[in-house]
Amino acid sequence: MGSFCKDYVGEIIQAWYMDDSNEDQRLPHHRNPEEYVTLDQLAVELGVLSWRLDADNYETDEELKKILQARGYSYMPQALVQDMIEVCPEKLPNYEEKIKNFFEEHLHTDEEIRYCIAGSGYFDVRGCDDAWIRIWVKKGAVIALPAGIYHRFTLDTNNYIKAMRLFVGEPVRTPYNRPHDHLPARKEYVETFVQKGATNQAVDAAGA
Ligand code: LAC
Ligand code: NI
Repeated sequence: MGSFCKDYVGEIIQAWYMDDSNEDQRLPHHRNPEEYVTLDQLAVELGVLSWRLDADNYETDEELKKILQARGYSYMPQALVQDMIEVCPEKLPNYEEKIKNFFEEHLHTDEEIRYCIAGSGYFDVRGCDDAWIRIWVKKGAVIALPAGIYHRFTLDTNNYIKAMRLFVGEPVRTPYNRPHDHLPARKEYVETFVQKGATNQAVDAAGA
């Protein structure tokens, strides 16, 4: 195996606008009616990229390397750091606290790349209109959140994910909880995606 067509990616990564109920964060939180967001929209409008890989063979699969090279992770392959995290009470020290922190809205000054090896979970990201978009990742999904995007993570009702975390060099995982709008990474993200989105919407409205 190796390369997969786009529809196939849709089986393991789906995105939708969230409702604003206060129910359990691990529920899907669809709007009524459901409002899906395509993977193309995620990529073009928000800079959130995703791929499908063969998670059963993650140790030998060359596809991950190709993706990383295309993302500029090739400069110093020896500096590529990856670690594995299993989110469940038995495997994750300070489980309750970590779960709580993952779900605090935050940003990073580096890209956040996660490869779902088993289980599933929700990455929530802020759309251009600042509404929450929920991205459901399952086994085989690789997701890259750009530096500066506000986001959070939660398990779904299956309560388990095993994920590979990828970094270049020293792992920079510092979460900057919202608001941290003065950080250069945030400003850059807003200029590249949020402002562009607002302009496009205005043009659409004027031209409609
Ligand atoms: C992280 C995810 C939870 O920062 O956003 O690790
Ligand atoms: Ni994060």
